Amino acid sequence: MGQTIQIEKANSLKEKPDVSNIKFGTVFTDYMFSSHYTPEHGWETPTITPYKNLELSPALQSIHYGQSVFEGLKAYKSGDDILLFRPEENFKRLNRSLERLSMPKINEEDAIKALKELLQLEKDWVPDGPGQSLYIRPFVFADEPFLGVRPSRTYRFLIILSPVAGYSGAALDPTSIYVEDEYVRAVRGGIGNAKAAGNYAASLLAQQKANNLGYEQVLWLDGVHQEYIEEVGSMNIFFVRNGEIVTPELNGSILEGITRKSIIELAEYKGYTVKEERVHIDDFLKGVQDGSISEVFGAGTAAVISPIGRMNIHDTDYIINDNQPGDVAKDLYDHYTEIQYGRLEDPFGWVQ
Ligand code: COI
Repeated sequence: MGQTIQIEKANSLKEKPDVSNIKFGTVFTDYMFSSHYTPEHGWETPTITPYKNLELSPALQSIHYGQSVFEGLKAYKSGDDILLFRPEENFKRLNRSLERLSMPKINEEDAIKALKELLQLEKDWVPDGPGQSLYIRPFVFADEPFLGVRPSRTYRFLIILSPVAGYSGAALDPTSIYVEDEYVRAVRGGIGNAKAAGNYAASLLAQQKANNLGYEQVLWLDGVHQEYIEEVGSMNIFFVRNGEIVTPELNGSILEGITRKSIIELAEYKGYTVKEERVHIDDFLKGVQDGSISEVFGAGTAAVISPIGRMNIHDTDYIINDNQPGDVAKDLYDHYTEIQYGRLEDPFGWVQ
């Protein structure tokens, strides 16, 4: 990229919705960004066009073999300003995901510049209600029409925008979890630590199974022993044990969540002890049974912090913290979101 972004203006703009009434990821703004990669010219033709359907070959490599990665971040309204939260972390991770799937890297600075230009055009789409934001979805997929199995020669990089309130339910509504011990999400050496579309496809059957059993999300165990806690739904998992915050250590199959990393930094700044360690499900269960584990919550961009109020572990139901959001989860959620909305001092330089 590095070139001037061409802008094609829309003839008419959509009516802005009441964001408190829309479901996550169902409404898209007026414009999108796109750029195309060829081995001869690299990333080129950076363009902002009206949001529209794409015309694609049925032999598209990403449809058949899954070279497709994405990111998720949010823009927040603060008075007349639009704030972004650690966008450089998302584009760095996008490049790690691209590398893992043998796809060409993007220029991180150019991508942030393109995003800011797109947001400038779409600033009226950033909602300002409580807990509302503009969800940003950058993604890259292989677009060569070719059925041989090898990395595609050509790719597309797009950014689309979607106004959102929460991910599901109200903020801090406790969710229910089924500990999955049949299916796994990822294995070490695989693509679990990349934000690859295929990881989410691999999660769906277990998600359906959990839903059919009356739970909202899945708790994933490791893919080798099926004994160590990895993630929860599409989030990283945290719990409070004897007053200390614990999260599974990164091991190659756990996604390196930007919310995970930020919550650890914020919690330490606030004086909590945070431990990153390998957590056996039976040790976790003991902690739930003897009360040393007082809170469990997920952390991710979409839901921010999602307390877990009910868990099925080895076919028995356990209620955590009376099925209420815990004090640590609430404390971290409040401080974190106040920083994101520019209402509290940002001692980390996260917000721009
Ligand atoms: C996140 O919250 O970080 C996610 O990746 C959720 C997204 C897949 C909707």
